[in-house]
Amino acid sequence: MQKSISGFSKLSKAEKINWLIANHFGNKKHAKTVLESYWNEDKKLQQLHDEFIENTISNFYMPFGVAPNFLINEKLYSLPMTIEESSVVAAASNAAKFWLNRGGFKTNVISTEKIGHVHFMFKGEKNALVNCFNALKPKLLRATATLTKNMEKRGGGILDFQLNDCTSKIPHYYQLEVTFETVDAMGANFINSCLEQIAVTFETLSKEASNLNGILPEVVMSILSNYVPNCVVRAEVSCAVDDLTLEGHFTGSEFAKKFIQAVRIAEVEPFRAVTHNKGIMNGVDALVIATGNDFRAVEAGVHAYAAKSGQYTSLSHATLKNNIFRFWLDLPLALGTVGGLTALHPMVKFALELLGKPSAKDLMQIVAVAGLAQNFAALRSLTTTGIQKGHMKMHLLNILNQLQVNTSEKEQLIIHFKTKSVSQHAVAEALKNLRA
Ligand code: HMG
Repeated sequence: MQKSISGFSKLSKAEKINWLIANHFGNKKHAKTVLESYWNEDKKLQQLHDEFIENTISNFYMPFGVAPNFLINEKLYSLPMTIEESSVVAAASNAAKFWLNRGGFKTNVISTEKIGHVHFMFKGEKNALVNCFNALKPKLLRATATLTKNMEKRGGGILDFQLNDCTSKIPHYYQLEVTFETVDAMGANFINSCLEQIAVTFETLSKEASNLNGILPEVVMSILSNYVPNCVVRAEVSCAVDDLTLEGHFTGSEFAKKFIQAVRIAEVEPFRAVTHNKGIMNGVDALVIATGNDFRAVEAGVHAYAAKSGQYTSLSHATLKNNIFRFWLDLPLALGTVGGLTALHPMVKFALELLGKPSAKDLMQIVAVAGLAQNFAALRSLTTTGIQKGHMKMHLLNILNQLQVNTSEKEQLIIHFKTKSVSQHAVAEALKNLRA
């Protein structure tokens, strides 16, 4: 039976660990050893990580891989990828290699606006509220001046400010909707600070507004939206259909036909679209995490975008016209290359340097390419060899580690499976035979 505890946050790290272990683990010594084995010997570095979040007791490693050979708008990149799933980095690398000699990836940033809202209730006349908002608008904007000053110097700030009537959704519900440009910052803190300032000023000034007849707006909350349909980037690849020929498998047009059918299925069938888009997010999230960005925000925003027509659908599309195969996706991505963890986490700094210290717009393009490459690799496998062949080939090391093979067994089994299909059962059998 688990015990509750009051004041846990006030305990030292050692006290937290002792309480947890005393109350949750049978083999207490082992549990403590596991936690401690993930501490960094460099005490300063460990403290930095301890202070990223709250109640930290250890670190949780994710592998940091690299996918080279990405030609993006004529420039070569090696992409940093933080992900736990085998075959993702290999698939990205494979797609990059494939497109390297077929013109590479082309991208463009379509828009970079982000939105936030002050959500409030107002029980008076709509016209009175509209008049009051129009009269107060300049003052509300001025109230954010100290917050927006530096952002404006960098070329960003508040772009637009409007009142939305949402009473058809919930009685008395309105929004102050503010549109922002946050340049190289993801902008969550900046946007939320501006919104909170606007909300406080709105409440204060509306008390003095004679046209509201004493009926005051009641602020519910002020928060940015992670749905960013106006912060969108396109990534695409294209080539002559004959250049798609997969030697020994398909002609270019056979492959293109099957590939486009696979994309079309994801466009019309939500069960397939979710898995298809998961494949895209394999690449997107790996880059987003490696560069210290908020993958939960990206995930939520991307999936909302995929459902914007009312039906969840594919994020990518493909066509074959005049013998030119074209494959592309549009992704809503609110990313930052300054602020947050970008200047704190040593591996994030490394990842950004590896990418040539990109601006947020550059990073949007690189991340979208990672998503498209991943989708291409997965669809290529799915429509030709099947996904398991390549995936399991990459998963072999995990299976061998799970079976606790020694170094020599590992070497022998890797050679053995170069020409055989990998499965948990097949590896276990091969190990049994080897040991016999
Ligand atoms: P292959 O053709 O057997 O690879 O593909 P290869 O040994 O001929 O090597 C070709 C290139 O692939 C290499 O070039 C690398 O770029 C890369 P090189 O470096 O030799 O010049 N590559 C590797 N990179 C790093 N480490 C490796 C490695 N092996 C090859 N060990 C491969 C094998 C797995 C790449 C291929 O089968 C593939 O792309 N499969 C797709 C795998 C995939 O999509 N995995 C994601 C997980 S499955 C999933 O979650 C998504 C899904 O459900 C989405 C959907 O349904 O749409 C599938």
